[in-house]
Amino acid sequence: MTLWGGRFSQKLDDLAWALNSSLPVDQRMAIQDVDGSIAWASAIHKAGILSDEEHASISLGLDTIHKEFSSGQFSFVPSDEDIHTAVERRLSELIGAAAGKLHTGRSRNDQVATDFRLWVLQAIPELTSAFNNLQTALVEQAELALPHPQPFSQREKGVPSPTGEGKGEGEPTIMPGYTHLQRAQPILLAHWWLSHYWALKRDVERLQDLTKRVTVLPLGSGALAGAPFAVDRDSLAKSLGFAEVSQNSLDAVSDRDFAAEYLFVCSMAAVHLSKLAEQVVLYTTAEFGFLELSDAFSTGSSLMPQKKNPDVFELTRGKAGTLIGLLTGLMSTLKGLPSTYDKDLQEDKAPVFQATDTLLSILPVMAAALRTITVKPERMRSAIDSTMMATDLADYLVEKGLPFREAHSLAGRVVREAGEKNVRMEELPLEAYQAIGPFEADVYQVFDPLESINKRNTVGGTSLQSVKNQISKCRENIQTLK
Ligand code: ARG
Repeated sequence: MTLWGGRFSQKLDDLAWALNSSLPVDQRMAIQDVDGSIAWASAIHKAGILSDEEHASISLGLDTIHKEFSSGQFSFVPSDEDIHTAVERRLSELIGAAAGKLHTGRSRNDQVATDFRLWVLQAIPELTSAFNNLQTALVEQAELALPHPQPFSQREKGVPSPTGEGKGEGEPTIMPGYTHLQRAQPILLAHWWLSHYWALKRDVERLQDLTKRVTVLPLGSGALAGAPFAVDRDSLAKSLGFAEVSQNSLDAVSDRDFAAEYLFVCSMAAVHLSKLAEQVVLYTTAEFGFLELSDAFSTGSSLMPQKKNPDVFELTRGKAGTLIGLLTGLMSTLKGLPSTYDKDLQEDKAPVFQATDTLLSILPVMAAALRTITVKPERMRSAIDSTMMATDLADYLVEKGLPFREAHSLAGRVVREAGEKNVRMEELPLEAYQAIGPFEADVYQVFDPLESINKRNTVGGTSLQSVKNQISKCRENIQTLK
């Protein structure tokens, strides 16, 4: 059974059938398809197309199909071309001829666009909560890296800190901050963890914002020109949970912007995850040694017994490439399509499903891997050398009244002098400083990295106070999304 056999005298070639069939992909929209049909049946009943009995029978049949899908009892047959055909075929098995009235005024073109939008609408909150879980893991790590962490879930439950000795007491964990992957200025580890939080926050915001463009109902647009019966599209939209109805039927059946945008949001998030992953890969090397993965999130080598590999993070980095490819693929499919529905559009769903599955597989693993990572505060601390406080040295002279340009140059001379004498900057005698500029005995204080950190006390800076404020904002933000 096809939905379109009437005008053909020959059956579709088997290979062409296989190419044309989208069931392997679109059966994931089964529930959305049935929901859409239930709502459509009511709409055409109200429009006088279905009698009360027909409507009751169709609704009952669709409810049964809904249950069959939910319980995994639904069986497809080889002639099911796509999910829409399968549902209608099953409906006719269940209720007979009345099933043939369901498709009145509707086309698979507005139907598939509706199903797809419903699918994306249910994926958005699922992804959001997976992002929130990872964001929470980042905030928990940030709290652990502070001297007096605010309580967090694990701690309340009495689970010991997973992040190594000395955490959560005394001094905050400090580390080198990098630009160009060169040591730049000391920062709080908490600040570094949270930098990834904010990137993910924007991803979640983009997901939420996208909702308003997804929640536009195409159903009632027919194949392209609109429905010929007096269907109340507004109440149809309401019954399916859409916020509004599309205003142009030609656009409605062809618009896949929401899918492309969704793929962009997923890709951008994957790029953020990839950047985080790359830093974890780097920081777990023997050369850095800042972090150590727990065994549960590391893999070994079949050849080299000593290896402990960060595969989870490498895969995260790798999958970002795949996701960007999915976005690029769909954009290429959409480019240059003539109005309105074209079968090319059948290529729209697989990338969206794959991107969703990929993120839903990465996000919980990343969160769990980060929650069990061991931080090496001593390694981080010992990677901070006094040249990283050269800016503070210049700032010191600025406080003595020098213009920053001059201060920068004099501080540079101190760096050079220490380099030439092969000593650390704080080992140069005061006379050496005074020969260069208006330095006084208090100059040596600038070499305390925590001083340097706490001076950066503007909103968004790395000082302990700023970072504590930042954590409160992160916590509030997570709450509002719940
Ligand atoms: N399987 C199709 C898709 O995913 C459904 C729409 C078919 N429309 C058509 N005019 N053949 O796009």
